[in-house]
Amino acid sequence: MKVLVIGGGAREHALCRSLSLDPDVTALHCAPGNAGIAEVAEVHPVDALDGAAVAELAVSLDAGLVVVGPEAPLVAGVADAVRERGIPVFGPSAEAALLEGSKAFAKDVMAAANVPTARAYVCTTPAEIDEALDAFGAPYVVKDDGLAAGKGVVVTSDLAAARAHALACEQVVIEEFLDGPEVSLFAVTDGETVVPLQPAQDFKRALDGDEGPNTGGMGAYSPLPWADPKLVDEVLRTVLQPTVDELRRRGTSFSGLLYAGLAITSRGVRVIEFNARFGDPETQVVLARLKTPLAGLLLAAATGTLAAVPPLRWSEGAAVTVVVASHNYPGTPRTGDVIEGLAEAAELDSAYVLHAGTKCDEEGRVVSAGGRVLSVTATGPDLAAARTRAYEAVSRIRLAGSHHRTDIAAKVAASA
Ligand code: AMP
Ligand code: GLY
Repeated sequence: MKVLVIGGGAREHALCRSLSLDPDVTALHCAPGNAGIAEVAEVHPVDALDGAAVAELAVSLDAGLVVVGPEAPLVAGVADAVRERGIPVFGPSAEAALLEGSKAFAKDVMAAANVPTARAYVCTTPAEIDEALDAFGAPYVVKDDGLAAGKGVVVTSDLAAARAHALACEQVVIEEFLDGPEVSLFAVTDGETVVPLQPAQDFKRALDGDEGPNTGGMGAYSPLPWADPKLVDEVLRTVLQPTVDELRRRGTSFSGLLYAGLAITSRGVRVIEFNARFGDPETQVVLARLKTPLAGLLLAAATGTLAAVPPLRWSEGAAVTVVVASHNYPGTPRTGDVIEGLAEAAELDSAYVLHAGTKCDEEGRVVSAGGRVLSVTATGPDLAAARTRAYEAVSRIRLAGSHHRTDIAAKVAASA
């Protein structure tokens, strides 16, 4: 099977790495890719947001499967453009991707499907905003309704800051604060059958101890030894299957990756958000543990044959990933810095460096090209071992001005 992956971050590098290890994959392409992806796939300088260009590329490559990684192309209808050319696509239609693209739409689907989530008001006027903030009290949770790359959400006890963020949004969702640990659970679906993957946890704040601003994610680990072993079955029954069924009932079948961001509260599991694609950096650790070949699974979702796929196989071990970010991320990042030590890091057993924002400069050097630059991933028999290996690999990498969290999976590794 010839596979084309759309996107160019660490998630797409992880997808390409797994696909490159699948014996059924005869050719692997990626657009636009990055410097690391170029080592496992043939990269093409095609704009991921341009549906017509992506579809044309897929046809010219004779692709048997196209996998769309990020949310922006999905919301822009890139999966639809490829599907129209008769090529199987892993990724939802633009209409179904609204589950991620509009928080108000997601709330509406959850209400109809009886899926447990935070109580929320959708507000457009200052009066509505004040009423909602007053109704819930602190801490305030204020979410821009549209796509905001993980930066549209403000959680604060400062009423003035909550109000200012809400007023800056065209439409805003104000909701009840959910306490308790967060879990990311991904499921592969063809619109009918839902196959959950193993849960992971990510670290959203920029600094150690969950301090600092929200980011796209600074690290992740899997499995979650502290989670109830029945969690995945419960979420499948109460969240994932009802949501997929409700979307099908509405005539907007969702096929691809359904990502449930969950809070495990004292009153039970609640959905914080849905995403319409693999999470980043959680994908790096989930795929590190998946033993079932990836291409067949994604193709089954793309062609409506997931019910026939045998149960997934998982490694018993653990995986940890640590994100190395540019100077000033999550603010406007500095780019163009040379990355050194990649070869030394690659010499370590069971560790590998996935590229997020990188490119090759004119002299053939790998340089930073985005906010999150690398996602350094390692596996091991347990979380403590995986964590030690990941940080050993991080220590071999040199990138001027970069920063990373030093406490990814620290607590869980110490208590396991
Ligand atoms: P989202 O973009 O919806 O995932 O929100 C980003 C982050 O904000 C989440 O991962 C949570 O840490 C936090 N958050 C979002 N909604 C809530 C909520 N209702 N209660 C508490 N924290 C939340
Ligand atoms: N890790 C959070 C996300 O992918 O949205």
